[in-house]
Amino acid sequence: MSLISKRRLRLLGNNLLARLDLTIQRRSRMAELGFLDDPTTSVLHQTRETKDALRSDHPRIAELRQRYEGHPAAAHTQWTSSFVQNEIDLAGFRGDNAYVSQRLGQGIANYALSTQYVNSHDVQDLRSRLSEDGQFGVHSFAIGTQTVSRDLLDSILEINFLDEHLNLLDGRSLTILDIGAGYGRLAQRLTGLASNIDYICTDAVPESTYLCEFYKDFYGLDNVTVASQWFPLTRFSKLLRVERSIWRSTFTASAKCLQLRSRGGST
Ligand SMILES: C[S@@+](CC[C@H](N)C(=O)[O-])C[C@H]1O[C@@H](n2cnc3c(N)ncnc32)[C@H](O)[C@@H]1O
Repeated sequence: MSLISKRRLRLLGNNLLARLDLTIQRRSRMAELGFLDDPTTSVLHQTRETKDALRSDHPRIAELRQRYEGHPAAAHTQWTSSFVQNEIDLAGFRGDNAYVSQRLGQGIANYALSTQYVNSHDVQDLRSRLSEDGQFGVHSFAIGTQTVSRDLLDSILEINFLDEHLNLLDGRSLTILDIGAGYGRLAQRLTGLASNIDYICTDAVPESTYLCEFYKDFYGLDNVTVASQWFPLTRFSKLLRVERSIWRSTFTASAKCLQLRSRGGST
């Protein structure tokens, strides 16, 4: 195709797309405008202490491995020790991996659209209260005046969802039990917003518990408890009441979504 017809095609396409407030733009032009396809920041926190802490032969991980071994919850189909070994680089635990995958679709374009979507659903204006510091290998992108990551965007959506259904941010005391908390992404985001929330992180993968302990210490998350002992849930009757109400609300919300879907509505 000649250069002229390519330009014509672009003009024609843009004329049509203008009605939808969209435009076709060259990737090189996007880069000139500051929309880079590569993550803008991806910092590994490389102090001696951090390097020493984030090594896979750390004695605390060995201790957790021993503690979790043999428990039915730790009989993994996916999160096996070889999966964790191949998938999780401890030094860059917030990178693109099984905790939060980040190299989705078309890089910057995907992040720009996701940011626009999240901003338009951010009822609590969390984007003005949460930020991305780019630590531990997270992929972050500059979108307009915002620096975003999937960790940040997911957290904004999730907290808005939880607040909509549970009035999470209304100041009353609340205990949250997070099963499969990973490195503590939501725990850090949520307790940073609401000091009334006690957040208990649990996980059945030794490396995840270890990273969560590390994350809690690194950010000084006083309202976060990282549980590393097996405990019967019946010991926590108050906590169970809260958990049940969370499940009820979540299921009700999910059921509503499903109802809408089955009626062909948008969700
Ligand atoms: C996809 S990651 C999500 C982490 C975190 N919830 C988040 O959204 O950032 C799944 C998590 O489930 C944990 N996990 C895997 N098997 C588990 C099990 N049997 N019981 C509890 N947690 C488990 C993994 O260690 C990992 O932290």
